[in-house]
Amino acid sequence: MRKYTIILLITAFLFGCQTTNNSFNNKEIINKKVDSLINIMTLDEKIGQMNQYNGFWDVTGPSPKNGDAKIKYNNLKKGLVGSMLNVRGVSDITALQKIVVEETRLGIPLIIGNDVIHGYKTLSPIPLAEAASWDMEEIENSARVAALEASAAGTNWTFAPMVDISRDARWGRVMEGAGEDPYLGSLVAAARVRGFQGKDLSKHNTIAATAKHFAAYGFSESGRDYNTVDISKNTLYNVVFPPFIATVDEGVRTFMNSFNELNGIPATGNSFLQRDILKGEWNFDGFVISDWGSITEMIPHGYAKDKVHATELALKAGSDMDMESHLYVKKLKELVNSKKVDISLINDAVSRILRVKFELGLFDDPYRYLDAERERKIINHPDNHKAVLEMAKKSIVLLKNENQLLPFKKESTQKIALIGALANDNNSPLGNWRTSSDNNTAVTVLEGMKKYSNNNLIYRKGADVITNYSGVVGFAQKVKINENDKSGFDAARIAAKNSDVVVMVLGEDGFQSGEGRSRTEIDLPGVQQELLEEIYKVNKNIVLVLMNGRPLNIDWADKNIPSIVEAWQLGTQTGNAIAQVLYGDYNPSGKLPMSFPRSVGQIPIYYNYKNTGRPGPSKQVFWSHYNDESNTPLYPFGYGLSYTTFEYSNIKIESKTLKMNNSINVSVELKNTGKFKGKEVVQLYIRDRIASITRPVRELKGFEIIELEPGESKKVNFNISERLLRFYSANDLWEAEPGFFDIYIGSDSNANLHEFFELINF
Ligand code: BGC
Repeated sequence: MRKYTIILLITAFLFGCQTTNNSFNNKEIINKKVDSLINIMTLDEKIGQMNQYNGFWDVTGPSPKNGDAKIKYNNLKKGLVGSMLNVRGVSDITALQKIVVEETRLGIPLIIGNDVIHGYKTLSPIPLAEAASWDMEEIENSARVAALEASAAGTNWTFAPMVDISRDARWGRVMEGAGEDPYLGSLVAAARVRGFQGKDLSKHNTIAATAKHFAAYGFSESGRDYNTVDISKNTLYNVVFPPFIATVDEGVRTFMNSFNELNGIPATGNSFLQRDILKGEWNFDGFVISDWGSITEMIPHGYAKDKVHATELALKAGSDMDMESHLYVKKLKELVNSKKVDISLINDAVSRILRVKFELGLFDDPYRYLDAERERKIINHPDNHKAVLEMAKKSIVLLKNENQLLPFKKESTQKIALIGALANDNNSPLGNWRTSSDNNTAVTVLEGMKKYSNNNLIYRKGADVITNYSGVVGFAQKVKINENDKSGFDAARIAAKNSDVVVMVLGEDGFQSGEGRSRTEIDLPGVQQELLEEIYKVNKNIVLVLMNGRPLNIDWADKNIPSIVEAWQLGTQTGNAIAQVLYGDYNPSGKLPMSFPRSVGQIPIYYNYKNTGRPGPSKQVFWSHYNDESNTPLYPFGYGLSYTTFEYSNIKIESKTLKMNNSINVSVELKNTGKFKGKEVVQLYIRDRIASITRPVRELKGFEIIELEPGESKKVNFNISERLLRFYSANDLWEAEPGFFDIYIGSDSNANLHEFFELINF
């Protein structure tokens, strides 16, 4: 503690301010403290702040026995480490913090980062599922719960939200994002930043967020992870950037760059992205962390000739902290000494890192996040379970419900066969990126349904999804798909035959999506499709519950199965959420954040496409279409049903002209025409008919969640201002161009209630 106290005294003395008065808003004071600290730091100490190591921890304490771990441990003691990741829990983190605070010259506290992607211990649905709720308050709250638990366990920085827009369901990482749309994606991104960071970052229960991966990682060619990205300026500005901008507007404290190259330059060495755009145009004053090893990876990319060169390129491009390339700590000093890198670049990077540490309150109290009693109380608190259950229910999307097979009647004696390995799986529903939670802690669908229907429910596995996987949670496993084992089919068939209705829970294993988990086929893995078709032969009353981390190709199911429920991977409370929906205690209201293709060949498929010169349809062959498949998705973006029905009518626009500095109102009448109370996400889409660059056929520009009793109606209003119509134009400006705009309002991206207006200059 002694050396640490010296730093506190220095800063307090220099600026005559209370170090405890160290709030997030005190930017001026913090900047001064940062400057004063930089002034007394040696080059080694500065470089140390820019170095982040992965944990090197044994269950019983640090494991500095050999090789890499030993180097890391020694560097920690020398003040050559600014941050650690993948160290969790108060006890382990306290031990680390003590080393730097007590044994290094300046005692600068570590910032502890972890991938708190959808919860810490108590898991929320995977982010793609949460986005399906379209409910920003709930999403913010889910991030809040994650922050509460993570901060109680010593983490003060999460590598989330992942805000990469993606139009490719083959890419495994779509599970981490908010889907295909920049408007929805921006709102979700901002909500998650608010949830993690709260209003005051210096509180012990808020954590710094990271907008990642900057940029365009979601556009990797052919959906193969880490692959090349080559996209136009138009796509970059109008589709990729908006969610990142939303996080900056929300005050996100860090950015992570990306593994991919963008138009020939790796994101990590890309100064256009990091210096010109992020730190320049957007005025971002937090810091940028590289992705794992992405500085070294510039060598195989063919951009850096060796490690020294990679280090130079990354720093010059604006990557402030090195995650696990170990290059800044090894090579930066020689680059400064040989005058290839100017010290001002290092000072800038270190200032950014220190600023966030000050904002987190780590200089006031490096042990602020380290209270074992709080950890014990907060982790797995019943309130957290309640919150993730709410989030889970709202994330479910009803894709089909013929003859009102759902909801089941609670008092009914109908016999139900529950089939599918995933129905009795307490691990898969946790999804990928559950780095801090415990395996096998999800409530299964079987457990959830038993609470409603014990005597008339029979469970049969039918078939496995995955027969074997091994390895560390969230990291590489050998995934072996069950291709052949149909030994469970007979028992499942018999159960189905003797039941009134069958619930089949099918989909992907929890580790089939996520990083490094791209697929070329996105149908039901293994023999599950066959199982579905076999069961269908003996009982057609099937409710198909899907568990998956990406849109799946379920064309056959859509044609044949009467009820389909998209349940993604819903986290810890999965089984309870699904059961409450199946039995009507919760009326589903989720809407798809990503289009479901009819076949993989349609990918990339997205609702906000361009019209082309030959949009068709035409009787002739020469229009933009496939010869063997329709152009439309199986389920469009924004789609989702309810147990009740809604009728849209009476679209009205206040004026057919909108002046540049004005706004106009457009309204629609929504009526609940069914038998259940229910929620509808009323969606507003706009098309800019003619512009200096071609614009999408429509773009989401607003939505409202409206809850109505049966028979009830409500007028829903949207305000359209010139701001809403801005895009990155051919003039390299964010601007709205005068001209005609179409408006569509409805329940999904095929909305067809139509109006139009003209945007005029005066
Ligand atoms: C991922 C990041 C993640 C980091 C640390 C990388 O492989 O791309 O999203 O935050 O690892 O776990």
